[in-house]
Amino acid sequence: MSDCPDAKPTAAALARRLPAVIQGGMGVSISNWRLAKAVSQAGGLGVISGTGLDRVVAYRLQEGDAGGHLRRVIARFPIPAVAERILNRWYVAGGITRPGAYRATAMVEHEPRIDTLELLVVANFAEVALAKEGHDGVVGINLLEKVQSPNVASLYGAMLGGVDAVLMGAGIPREIPGVLDRLAAHQEASLILRVEGALPGETTRIRFDPRCIVGDIPPPVFRPPFLAVITSDILAQALLRSTDGGVDGFVVEGPTAGGHNAPPRNHNEPLNARGEPVYGPRDHADLVKLAKLGRPFWLAGGFGTPEGLAKAQAAGAQGVQIGTILALSEESGLRPDLKAQVLGLVRDGKAGVFTDRLASPTGFPFKVAEVPGTLSDPAVYASRTRICNLGYLRMPYRLENGKLGWRCAAEPEAAFIAKGGDPAELVGRKCICNALMSTAGMPLITPEGGRELPLVTAGDCVAKLADAVPSLDGYKAADVCGLGTPVRT
Ligand SMILES: Cc1cc2nc3c(=O)[nH]c(=O)nc-3n(C[C@H](O)[C@H](O)[C@H](O)COP(=O)(O)O)c2cc1C
Repeated sequence: MSDCPDAKPTAAALARRLPAVIQGGMGVSISNWRLAKAVSQAGGLGVISGTGLDRVVAYRLQEGDAGGHLRRVIARFPIPAVAERILNRWYVAGGITRPGAYRATAMVEHEPRIDTLELLVVANFAEVALAKEGHDGVVGINLLEKVQSPNVASLYGAMLGGVDAVLMGAGIPREIPGVLDRLAAHQEASLILRVEGALPGETTRIRFDPRCIVGDIPPPVFRPPFLAVITSDILAQALLRSTDGGVDGFVVEGPTAGGHNAPPRNHNEPLNARGEPVYGPRDHADLVKLAKLGRPFWLAGGFGTPEGLAKAQAAGAQGVQIGTILALSEESGLRPDLKAQVLGLVRDGKAGVFTDRLASPTGFPFKVAEVPGTLSDPAVYASRTRICNLGYLRMPYRLENGKLGWRCAAEPEAAFIAKGGDPAELVGRKCICNALMSTAGMPLITPEGGRELPLVTAGDCVAKLADAVPSLDGYKAADVCGLGTPVRT
């Protein structure tokens, strides 16, 4: 394949043209379309988080779709009948009267119903379309590999919206390049579902056929570059090998980054005095080896300053991926009161982060910002009644009859154990799903009639945020994002 000006650029060539600054995809809905649009207009790669978007869009429509933004872009969905069904199903004129009393969407399982698939596709289409509206900057989507079931339909929706790049980590996204190739040709694509207790040779696949949405005359889509979020050059190398080179670039995320972290490579390393995992030199990618793989890469984890960018580029990176600083900017989807609270803690020199190796049902360490009144406080969390009503982090397991069951270590203890779950896994687990919906301003109603509480995640750099942002009274994404050189695909 050539990269000459007349030929259609390959995904690999497009990856090399992506900007120096990538906005981290931050779920749930912290990296919303407003933040992605702002970053993209400032010359960076704006990235929407596709995690949980089916609910985010269904809930926003039920809230009455302030400003009419969702209805405006959903009206542009290439299959009008699908758009109409989504609006008929979820839009509530004037909004629901009781805050938080959303009509539930289905939990996405391995054989989702057609209405669930339509919602996934339209939601991801809409968020990308909104982020791309009115400018010619580039917009990507971030998905978590671990949240398997919704991913293929979500990717197709984003491609219909014209997404310019796909970024995926929190797992080993080995199958994604092939899935993107097939979706770009509107062919059925599938992912292997990891089923606990599956018998040797037993494989379950999550299948998605674009024709169930677009019929036989599909609208044009293109195959976006794929950037894998990784922690080590060894994984980068293995991914390139196992995907026939289908990975177009890498985001190398270090252990100080916000959100989920990879566990330390040395599992036997004792925890530190606070009970956090300890990372050593082996947890940092060898950038010389990485550069030799011939793919562009971006560094993530405390690189959100001009000095950070210069350092990354001096080490051979194309640029940096920034999370925490942008999560606290005006445009992000983080609840405004939480944003102000965290910025206040920074001002008072009290902002801190705990790397919680137990909290996330994914089993990955999760960075929890220590914010009073949120679920970072163990006493506050202890008062929460366990309930599993969102289900993104449930794991499929094999039932005796060979069918699939679903369980999550943050669900009610008795239910988890009755499903054959290991009681040891219950310890310290938190319902990240409900907490993150609350953090983005969409708290569900608890069994007691209250509202689910939030949990803020941030990188270690939050403690030094004062040096990196123009004002702790609030700032715009572009104020920290004017780091990149605008590059257009
Ligand atoms: C609030 C928040 C949520 C995040 N959620 C995700 C996510 O859903 N998927 C992902 O790949 N990375 C996620 N991250 C990591 C960021 O994409 C980014 O790589 C990281 O924040 C960079 O490090 P920094 O926070 O030091 O800038 C999240 C980070 C934050 C701060």
